[in-house]
Amino acid sequence: MKPIKLPSSFLLGSATAATQIEGGDKNSNWYHWSLKGMIANNESSIVAADHYNRVIEDINLMKEMNHEIYRMSIEWSRIEPEEGVWSQKGIKHYQDEIQALVEAGIKPLVTLHHFSHPQWFEEKGQWTNRDSVKYFSRFVKKVVSFLGDSVNEYCTINEPNVFAMDTFMDGKYPPGKKDDILSYFKASKNLILAHLKAYKIIHSERKKMGYNDTMVGIAIHLAYFEVSGNNILTKLSEKLMNYSFHQMFLNGMIEGHLTFPVGLGYPHGKGIYCDFIGVNYYSRHLIHSSNNPAMLFGEVKVEAGLPDEKLNDLGWEIYPEGLYKVVKEVFEKYKLPIYITENGIPDANDSKRAKFIYNHLKEIEKLIADDVDIRRYYHWSLLDNLEWNDGYAPRFGLIEVDYYTQKRTIRESGRFYGTICKEKEITKKMIDKYL
Ligand code: GAL
Repeated sequence: MKPIKLPSSFLLGSATAATQIEGGDKNSNWYHWSLKGMIANNESSIVAADHYNRVIEDINLMKEMNHEIYRMSIEWSRIEPEEGVWSQKGIKHYQDEIQALVEAGIKPLVTLHHFSHPQWFEEKGQWTNRDSVKYFSRFVKKVVSFLGDSVNEYCTINEPNVFAMDTFMDGKYPPGKKDDILSYFKASKNLILAHLKAYKIIHSERKKMGYNDTMVGIAIHLAYFEVSGNNILTKLSEKLMNYSFHQMFLNGMIEGHLTFPVGLGYPHGKGIYCDFIGVNYYSRHLIHSSNNPAMLFGEVKVEAGLPDEKLNDLGWEIYPEGLYKVVKEVFEKYKLPIYITENGIPDANDSKRAKFIYNHLKEIEKLIADDVDIRRYYHWSLLDNLEWNDGYAPRFGLIEVDYYTQKRTIRESGRFYGTICKEKEITKKMIDKYL
C-alpha cells in the first residue's frame, strides 16, 4: 500500500442526518412510520443515538477526530411541528448547535431535507402534493433567516433519487408505496422544483442580509451502474435506469431543465442552480434483466460469488473504483466543484472500515491528480445510527454507540480517520499501524 497525500485545502469531516441520530421527536413522519412497525425488529426513531441531548459531547468527539467540516440536517418537524406553527425551542436548539460547531472551528454544511419531514406534510401526500414546494420553501426561508451568518453552505435535498425510489417504488419509506411509477415521477418533479426554488431563496435571503459567500448544492446518490451480460433489453434497462435515477435529477437540479417525463423546459429559466455538486457514493450496482412489469427499473443485484472482503455488512459490494468513475463523469459534464457528501460502510466489527477509507481516498487522490475540482470528503457517518427501515443493526459509525447506555467509543478506524483529517495524508507509519 502506498502513502496518500491530499492538498491542505482539501477538507475532511463526517455526515449525519437528524432522524438517524437525534431521537425525541414525535412530529416526524419517521416516528409515525416506526409506530406502524415498519422498521426492522420493530425499532423506533424515538431514542436513536440521543444526539439531541448530547450535541456538545458529540462535537467534542468531532474535535477529537480533528474534523474541519460537518454535514448535518435540520429536522423540519422540530421547526414546524404543525403546519404554519414555528417552534422557538426547535429553532434555538439548532442555533445553539451551530454556534457550538462554529466555536469548535468546524464548518457546518446544512441539509434541509434528509428523507424526513413533519407528519402533517406526510398526511397531505408529502412530495406528491402540488403545494409541497410552497410548504418547503416557507421552511427554507425560515431556516436561512434564523441561521443568518452562521451558515453559508446548504444542501437543499438529500438523495432525491433514492428517496423517491424507496418511497414510491420499493415501499421502504413512508408511505410505503410499491411500483407506483406515477407518484415516483410526480414527487421527483416536486423535489427538483423544490431545489430550484430553495436555491433562489437561500441566495436572495442571504444577499439581503449582506452576504455574498453563499454556496448551495444538492447531495445526489450516484451509484456506479454496470450491465450484467449481453442481453439487449438489459442494456436498454440500464440506460433507462441511469436516466430516471441519475440524469433526470441532474438535468433538473443543476441546469433547471425539466426533462421527460417530469416536465419540459426551464420553469426558472436557463441557468446553473448548484454552486457545488454533493456526491453520495457507496457501491456498484449490476443491472440484470427483470421480470418486473416496471422493467424500466431493471433489477439491481450484487455480483454472485464475491469474496467476503468485497462485501459490507448489508451485502453491498465495496467498489472504490466506482467513486472515481461517477465523479469524473459528473465533473466532466458540469465542471462544478465536487463535495463527497457521503461515503461509508456498515462494518460492525470494524475490520473493513480503515481499508475502505484508504481505498476511497486513493481514488480521490487520483481525481485531484486528474484536475477534478474535488474539495471535500464527509465520511458517513460520525456515529452509529438508525439506518432507516433497516434499523440499528448496520453500524456505519466512526464512533460506536452502545444503544443501552448511549456510551460513545471512537473505533480504531475512527482514530485512523481522525489522523487523516489532521495530517491530510496517510503515511507509511499510519499504514503500518492501521491497515
Ligand atoms: C444514504 C442516506 C443516508 C444513509 C446512507 C447509508 O442513502 O443518505 O441517510 O442512510 O445512505 O445507507
